[in-house]
Amino acid sequence: MMQRSGLEPTIVSEHGIKSMKLYSHLDRVTNELIAAGCDPNGPLTVADLSPFDNLHYHGTDAVQLAIHELDLAVGHRVAEVGSGLGGPARFLAAQSGCHVTALELQSDLNEFAEGLTARCGLTEIISHLCGDALDGPLENNAFDAVVSWLACYHIPDHTSLFAKIADALKPSGMIYIEDLISRGPFTSAESELYGTRLYGQTAPSADGYFGELERAGFTNIRIDDLSDDWASFTNQRLAEYRSERERHLRIHGPDTVDAIEEFYDAVDQLFQGGNMGGIRVVATLAA
Ligand SMILES: C[S@@+](CC[C@H](N)C(=O)[O-])C[C@H]1O[C@@H](n2cnc3c(N)ncnc32)[C@H](O)[C@@H]1O
Repeated sequence: MMQRSGLEPTIVSEHGIKSMKLYSHLDRVTNELIAAGCDPNGPLTVADLSPFDNLHYHGTDAVQLAIHELDLAVGHRVAEVGSGLGGPARFLAAQSGCHVTALELQSDLNEFAEGLTARCGLTEIISHLCGDALDGPLENNAFDAVVSWLACYHIPDHTSLFAKIADALKPSGMIYIEDLISRGPFTSAESELYGTRLYGQTAPSADGYFGELERAGFTNIRIDDLSDDWASFTNQRLAEYRSERERHLRIHGPDTVDAIEEFYDAVDQLFQGGNMGGIRVVATLAA
């Protein structure tokens, strides 16, 4: 269990979510598939896509851990909040056989994800749904588990969010969430970077997170502090991206490369500053 700072700054961003550059230049996935020798329009496997379609840290290893923590198997229904390009949803469904409802706010990402899922032949066990988690688009009392990677920090009202997630779960359903938090007060430069380059809308402390989940009816709440691990992962990610800049320029062109490098750099600055951290949460809805 991590040490809790008790600080709960709320950062309200005036910028749209596309201020986070990871959400533009989606053709980078197709560029990478072509570079890897895949047919740019033909059938794909989850393994073809996994290096490029997971928009969180440690890729499919993190998703495999969720499968293990939640004991997911055929017959389970899982919802993912903030499913991005669909990487975690496809890996979850293909690996465990569970059915995944992949909820994504941005229509361009959702549409792109849906196309990739079809090309992987997974449409029977993955439903893509475009909408805002705060509007309650998930069916009530329907899911054995709700998972989420690096999406909740985009969502301004965690009280409502966790209430909606609790509504969607069956009694004794579980959550697995990886998310950003604050470990100390952000400087004004950090708040600006967080609000724009990462489109951060909330930065609760781990303590604040725990309290919100308790109030939403969750028990057996376990919070693991991943801050140091993510700081080192994202630092290395930036260094590797820079060291392979020539290769990336050849494949993607300068607009994409500059955008992604700017994003990786902002994330690195925030983790290295020590005030932004990260957690993994596993908890159970009270029966
Ligand atoms: C960093 S990405 C992670 C995507 C995916 N979980 C993954 O790990 O590959 C976070 C995603 O959450 C989505 N998101 C943000 N706010 C949302 C909301 N209110 N409802 C649904 N999705 C949301 C974003 O559009 C984005 O695609």
